[in-house]
Amino acid sequence: MQTFTSVSILRAAVREHRQKGRTVAFVPTMGNLHEGHLELVRRAKDMADRVVVSIFVNPMQFGANEDLSRYPRTPKEDTAMLVAEGVHHLFLPSVEEMYPGGLEQQVRVSVPGISNILCGAERPGHFDGVATVVSKLFNMVDPDIAVFGQKDFQQLAIIRQLTRDLNFPIRIEGVETARAGDGLALSSRNGYLSQEQRAKAPALYATLCSTRDAIANGQRDYPALEQAAREALAHAGFQPGYYEIRDAGTLAKPDAECGEIVILASATMGNTRLIDNVTLVLP
Ligand code: PAJ
Repeated sequence: MQTFTSVSILRAAVREHRQKGRTVAFVPTMGNLHEGHLELVRRAKDMADRVVVSIFVNPMQFGANEDLSRYPRTPKEDTAMLVAEGVHHLFLPSVEEMYPGGLEQQVRVSVPGISNILCGAERPGHFDGVATVVSKLFNMVDPDIAVFGQKDFQQLAIIRQLTRDLNFPIRIEGVETARAGDGLALSSRNGYLSQEQRAKAPALYATLCSTRDAIANGQRDYPALEQAAREALAHAGFQPGYYEIRDAGTLAKPDAECGEIVILASATMGNTRLIDNVTLVLP
């Protein structure tokens, strides 16, 4: 595996693949890799001749009071995992390489509407930071395919829209959420949980599943289901954030035409904010 910190050297490597007619798949990450990230890498390997992974803890997507400074950084372990997966190139830019003119003067990409609901309402500006860095990375890597996790369902919807609206010739691939044996969605932030908190955390996925089961069994009083779920989460030791049953295609409240729903939640345990979601195709 070749590791690049410079955009121009990365570009030269990808250009050579293109000249040789090879396809390139890209997996953007913030590192501290776990089995969920590796599932994306495996999908990328299945789909293209060469795989580029990036690790960049993007300051633009963190709010002033969020965990940028303590976000886990484990480049040695990450590198070993990517080598073991047979990744071809790792892009590891510095903040200066990514934002040479500084964050304030950087052109921003903003996806209207869906960026300001759910996670976007709880983390103002977060999705502009994500949309901006992903657009920059798409221009730097110039892949045929880019792979993202459904764990960040709203992020994936935003990336699909920016890809379409900015005419990136990139196929966006979504991969199912990888979970621990007890159901907790794998996340770099799970490492913040104490042992006691970790033991309670699977209640988030369990609650989402029970809402999904209730809908599958014909219940359609969505506000009542959302309220019951918030209470269940509070009872399990979470401070509930949003808990919403939405149309999986638009993230709007489902109407009579809706074919697939997604149930999305954020919930905080101690100081650790977790998100998760499940989907259901309606009969
Ligand atoms: P990060 O949280 O490191 O996640 C990188 C990718 O891994 C995202 O596409 C995310 O959805 C996926 N992922 C995380 N946990 C997963 C799980 N349990 N199962 C499947 N996929 C999972 O998301 C980001 O970084 C950043 O916002 C980024 C897109 C890199 C832009 O900075």
